[in-house]
Amino acid sequence: MTTQAYRASILHFPKQSHSPKQDYVYFEDGILVTRNEKIEFIGEYKANINQYVEAKLHDYTGKLLLPGFIDSHLHFPQTEMLASFGEQLLDWLTDYTFPVERKFADVEYANHIAKIFIKQLHRHGTTTGMVYSSVHKQAADALFQEAASHNMLLIAGKVCMDRHCPDWLKDTPQSAQQESAALIEKWHNNGRLKYAITPRFAPTSSPEQLHALGELAQQYPDVFIQTHLSENHKEIAWVKELFPERKNYLDVYDHYGLLRKGAVFGHGIHLEQAEWQRLQETQASIAFCPTSNLFLGSGLFDLAKAEQQNIPVMLATDVGGGTSFSMLKTMGEAYKICQLKGNQMDPMHGLYLMTQGAAVGLGLEYEIGNLNPGTDADFVILDPEFDELSALRFEHHRTPQDIIFALSMLADDRAIMATYVAGKVVYQADKQVLKGAH
Ligand code: GUN
Ligand code: ZN
Repeated sequence: MTTQAYRASILHFPKQSHSPKQDYVYFEDGILVTRNEKIEFIGEYKANINQYVEAKLHDYTGKLLLPGFIDSHLHFPQTEMLASFGEQLLDWLTDYTFPVERKFADVEYANHIAKIFIKQLHRHGTTTGMVYSSVHKQAADALFQEAASHNMLLIAGKVCMDRHCPDWLKDTPQSAQQESAALIEKWHNNGRLKYAITPRFAPTSSPEQLHALGELAQQYPDVFIQTHLSENHKEIAWVKELFPERKNYLDVYDHYGLLRKGAVFGHGIHLEQAEWQRLQETQASIAFCPTSNLFLGSGLFDLAKAEQQNIPVMLATDVGGGTSFSMLKTMGEAYKICQLKGNQMDPMHGLYLMTQGAAVGLGLEYEIGNLNPGTDADFVILDPEFDELSALRFEHHRTPQDIIFALSMLADDRAIMATYVAGKVVYQADKQVLKGAH
């Protein structure tokens, strides 16, 4: 592949930051150079273009180039059940989620939805997802296969659950351990793919299953872990009933060895102080899923508290409890939740939580989340003036903060012009680019 140069307004966070409002880097007229799968250079266009006259130039002047978005919690089998009416978490799982996830026993069906799911990610500028598959091993294969065909850095895992769900979705402690191990051997660090051990949540795993998954986590110290935590009051009361000997909800996972850096806990809305403390000690992360928390009536996540406690937070859609694949919209809803908590989330903070902040939480900042030379060339081009309303909105205000904020309120996939994964275009507005084409 020849060297490629992209001219655009370029924005990213090169380092880990506790004040993203200050720590971003912005080149109004910038250049990003890629060679093969990697980023080679980032800087001012005019001062540096002379060194790259050989490169093929993609002129996106006036557009915005950002690192590819990271969605750190979503469910592949729930793609088709977004926006199902009326329930809170536990009834929603029974009435909508489990019946849909049953369909993924059929590999052909899983292959079909995997294609749609990955396309949806790319269409929305998302280049990395941390994804729950269904309980079926072959459905996880289908998802990994599709992500591999685009050379994506995708993290995913087979859901494990052996109780409190329909018989046709149950695995066992042994099958969960064996099948997860087989998937780790097959997919973890296969190309850019990564594996996450995925107990659905404490109520649907027996103590024996959690123990088996803890053993697996110990056997594979560099795999990720993902599960749900403290999302809904009835769920929390149920966990206390099921595990009366544990100090709190998080302590269930802690007890079985499922709490460490690289473990991402979905939601964490109603945490006790001891749980905040333990998350901080272990540097495990929380996936903040605002559209889901509002849609399922779960509650308002306390971002300010999490930051105060120095806990890595990442933004996530939680499709299909969440109502959109768009990380821009997700940032907008996060802002509104912070408003209700009496805080204003700075737009640069929001952007950080879906790029570099997420990468740092996952320990992947040398691969994704920023545009530093040497990292993988995953990036997205946005058109801030994607329709007449946004064109009007941006006529007079063009600071990077203002652009990001207004995009988080007004935009969705209509603002995404192109998405690049490992240096190759995987989505272009109006034109879905075929695999491998350039
Ligand atoms: N808790 C357990 N399973 C799920 C799920 O699929 N979605 C959400 N939002 N919460 C859960
Ligand atoms: Zn979820």
